[in-house]
Amino acid sequence: IPTGQDLRAEIERLRKERKAVILAHYYQRPELQDLADFVGDSLELSRKAADTDAEVIAFCGVKFMADTAKILSPNKIVVLPDVDAGCSLEDSCPPQKFRAFRERHPDHIALTYINCSTEVKALSDIIVTSSSAETIISQIPRDQKIIFGPDRHLGGYLNRKFDRDMLLWPGVCIVHEAFSEKELLKLQAENPGAPIAAHPECPPTIIDHADYVGSTSGILNYAKTMVEDTLIVATEPHIIHQMQKALPNKNFIGAPGADGNCNCNICPYMALNTMEKLYLSLRDLTPRVEIEEGLRLAAKKSLDRMLEMAS
Ligand code: 13P
Ligand code: SF4
Repeated sequence: IPTGQDLRAEIERLRKERKAVILAHYYQRPELQDLADFVGDSLELSRKAADTDAEVIAFCGVKFMADTAKILSPNKIVVLPDVDAGCSLEDSCPPQKFRAFRERHPDHIALTYINCSTEVKALSDIIVTSSSAETIISQIPRDQKIIFGPDRHLGGYLNRKFDRDMLLWPGVCIVHEAFSEKELLKLQAENPGAPIAAHPECPPTIIDHADYVGSTSGILNYAKTMVEDTLIVATEPHIIHQMQKALPNKNFIGAPGADGNCNCNICPYMALNTMEKLYLSLRDLTPRVEIEEGLRLAAKKSLDRMLEMAS
């Protein structure tokens, strides 16, 4: 495997040779964000994957994101640099258990967070991302009963904000769950006047202190419009790379975990992707995402509903 500048040059060469597009989530390592053709939140990345005319999608993100790209673009080769880049929310929601949950509530529709397996998408009615959830829930009649999975914090946030009583699957994101309210308040006291922006995957103990709650792109846009010089960022800290690039004169501080620093909030799954693994995935076109056609079509229905309702 080449190193340094040579590695970058080889990725460049392979990107052209393979007619590949490199998509990256904001939680990826800075060097991957910097060479991606597009960096975005889950909704934006799904849209890009559906629209691209590239022949190969190299997805620097986690498995459910690469799976979504394949569901929406079945004729393209989709590679994920590290096949073990999963998600604690997806792991919390095995399809057979989710099916049983649905069957126990036959008069409910299933509104499901995109952070889940293709099988769970296939068992759902409408998918949401953190940036589309509010628009979508406001289009669902108030008397419609809903089950929401797998993130109980996002579901709880939506229940409170929209005065709904969706039944919640008990999953959590291990990254956002690790923020400490006590340490956050300490940090805020040390930075008087600094607003807090939080992702809705955070528990209510963090959300309750936030001046802004939204998706990764939402938080980035909030940073671009804030008048204050300092922002406390309660989501995975790699997003700060984009904030610092867009706003070099502002100060961004990652919200702390119980140990007082933000390193425990790095997503261990997102961190599995590296430049070396991206190079190998473009060279060998593996690990490749494959989805059985019947399952893909079933999952596509709930994703298409999201894409229609979100726009
Ligand atoms: P968004 O980028 O859609 O806000 O999602 C955050 C996330 O946890 C992705 O895994
Ligand atoms: Fe999953 Fe949380 Fe990592 Fe996002 S940050 S991929 S929700 S574990």
